[in-house]
Amino acid sequence: MKFFVDTADIDAIRELNDLGMVDGVTTNPSIIAKSGRNILEVTKEICDMVDGPVSAEVVSLKADDMIAEGRKLAKIAPNIAVKVPLTWDGLKACKVLSDEGNMVNVTLCFSANQALLAAKAGATFISPFIGRMDDINLDGLDLIEDIRTIYDNYGFDTQILAASIRSANHMSECAKIGADVATAPPSVIKAMANHVLTDKGLAGFMADIEKAGIKIL
Ligand code: E4P
Repeated sequence: MKFFVDTADIDAIRELNDLGMVDGVTTNPSIIAKSGRNILEVTKEICDMVDGPVSAEVVSLKADDMIAEGRKLAKIAPNIAVKVPLTWDGLKACKVLSDEGNMVNVTLCFSANQALLAAKAGATFISPFIGRMDDINLDGLDLIEDIRTIYDNYGFDTQILAASIRSANHMSECAKIGADVATAPPSVIKAMANHVLTDKGLAGFMADIEKAGIKIL
């Protein structure tokens, strides 16, 4: 499973990228607003740092406007994936932009039917939002599983990009189901390294190291 990092925080992306943990980056208007940066400038900086796809989202609602914005975003760098919302206009924009050879990430997906339409419209990525479904007592992981089944039934190339990930547990569950990509905030990716038994075991080893005076250097 590829790891995308869901942030526009340059230092956080660099730290994970240097460790080989970043296969791509996702942003959205809220993430850009939080960065306080100009969307074109910060997106360019991310694209220069990361080899994989960098999702940059359109900010209009009408298909023609999304297409114009998508074309401008795509000029930032060859690794831009234009992100469009899963509306009828967004699907129209997806079809045009993907036919023109751009990567397109269709976002705000909350149903298997929406994912089916995005695949038909030529999406490179479909982004089902797990956490936001869990927030309203729906099962986001079930949705990932349903989309996996449907895409495999018909051989769709669209990659399942599990999004709105809130916990390290979501990451391993998505990997078990077979999501192609999971995008998560840096804190969640780092939390994957944590285990209470690792901490406990290490504390025991450190106590014995101290008691026995074990040294290597
Ligand atoms: C993904 O592309 C989205 O930017 C993101 O995962 C949304 O996550 P949130 O629901 O935590 O805002």
